[in-house]
Amino acid sequence: MIGLYAVVALGGSVLNVRNPDRIREAADLISEALESGLKTCVVVGGGPVAREYINVARDLGAPETALDELGITVTRLNAALLNLALGRPGTDVPETPSEAAETVRREGVAVCGGTHPGHTTDAVGAMIAELLQAPLIIVTNVDGIYDRDPSEPGARKFREISARELERLAFEADLEAGGSFVVDPVATKIIRRGRVTTHVLSWDDFKSAGIRGTLRGRHDGTIVRG
Ligand code: UTP
Repeated sequence: MIGLYAVVALGGSVLNVRNPDRIREAADLISEALESGLKTCVVVGGGPVAREYINVARDLGAPETALDELGITVTRLNAALLNLALGRPGTDVPETPSEAAETVRREGVAVCGGTHPGHTTDAVGAMIAELLQAPLIIVTNVDGIYDRDPSEPGARKFREISARELERLAFEADLEAGGSFVVDPVATKIIRRGRVTTHVLSWDDFKSAGIRGTLRGRHDGTIVRG
């Protein structure tokens, strides 16, 4: 059964200023969900533009928290762009998870970006989902959660995984030099403690399933049982 709310984290690799068609397509998918009565919060990532700013500032010797704040600025710019694609000019981008949750309760929709240094927009999505007791959809540039780096031979995609196992995989990958995992470790912790059912899938999969179809599990990604 689908509840009243959904939270969708659209990674910056999926939605960014370099791919205007996607922004329009995302707006259409969100509008369709809103028209069906689903109250939806969308959290937008920073993508290649955030990475460019961060890399230049790092070379300039800036501290990591300042780099995070630059990244947050870019995510919020992308959120403003999606608001325009949704026909909502002049809409403020919420600055905290509580503000986003409150906006969704009141207005039925909110689009936000990052909030505080030290995590990514996946974690913001998980926090809002925890507050709303809603399912979370993470749309990313891989097609689900794998038991190891998907480029390694023999890597196996999970259809379902427990939140505890997801958290273990994310923290293990984080410890490796240069290691990165599809979901940020802070997000996995919140998914586990908030018992947030989470769907992790690719853009193409999300586009064909739509938000309601994704929540019904009609996709080829991974379902995390919170
Ligand atoms: P993203 O959420 O896009 O991070 O935020 P990401 O996972 O690196 O990017 P994709 O989705 O894989 O492309 C961009 C950057 O902004 C900062 C972090 O530095 C992050 O890497 N950020 C974002 C924060 O510090 N806090 C937030 O709440 C969000």
